[in-house]
Amino acid sequence: MRASGPSAPRPEPGHGYPELPETKSLSAWREAATHCRACDLWKNATQTVFGEGRRTAKVVFVGEQPGDREDLAGKPFVGPAGRVLDEALEAAGIDRAAVYLTNAVKHFKWRPAGKRRLHEKPNRSEIAACRLWLDAEIGILKPQVIVCLGAVAAQALISPTFKVTQQRGKLIPSSLAPHVVATVHPSSILRAPDDNARAREMKLFIADLQAVARVIRGLD
Ligand code: URA
Repeated sequence: MRASGPSAPRPEPGHGYPELPETKSLSAWREAATHCRACDLWKNATQTVFGEGRRTAKVVFVGEQPGDREDLAGKPFVGPAGRVLDEALEAAGIDRAAVYLTNAVKHFKWRPAGKRRLHEKPNRSEIAACRLWLDAEIGILKPQVIVCLGAVAAQALISPTFKVTQQRGKLIPSSLAPHVVATVHPSSILRAPDDNARAREMKLFIADLQAVARVIRGLD
């Protein structure tokens, strides 16, 4: 089940993990993940946000962690970053309904700021604790293409020293899937300082996804 790849040492089942399914049923793994206590992030999150998409998807997109909206909805990429992703996928000619979307970490990590919940980056041990679930998703789906969205996913799945700014859009040899590539996280586009920068960043993001679309077309 476990896909191989460079990452921090992973905790073994038993240490806060529920009983793990013996099957390759994604819904069984999704259900098991709702009971995960392998790190403390579940305590302040509404729910576990497992990946979503077709069981037959050839492409898996991996983000960082659910945001505020995803935490409430229980689905990945349904908030502002998801809307940027949707726009870029459409511009690149990739059908969101045909891919699988997930995150390196399945609980929302946040800190309070007045009435708002502000995103906090997951740390190495939280990412490592959640790796078991990501490995299960990858092991079940056996995707042809994995797209890492942002540094957290890229450093978890490709290399701890991976630099998205330098290596974005390049195919990376990996035992996880025949084609592994990283690009920026869509929320980085939302953080661009002005409209021009945002438009420029969006164009680059779409270009990276167009390269993914060419790989996908080559699979048929
Ligand atoms: N950011 C992510 O990395 N994943 C989501 O699901 C939403 C926002």
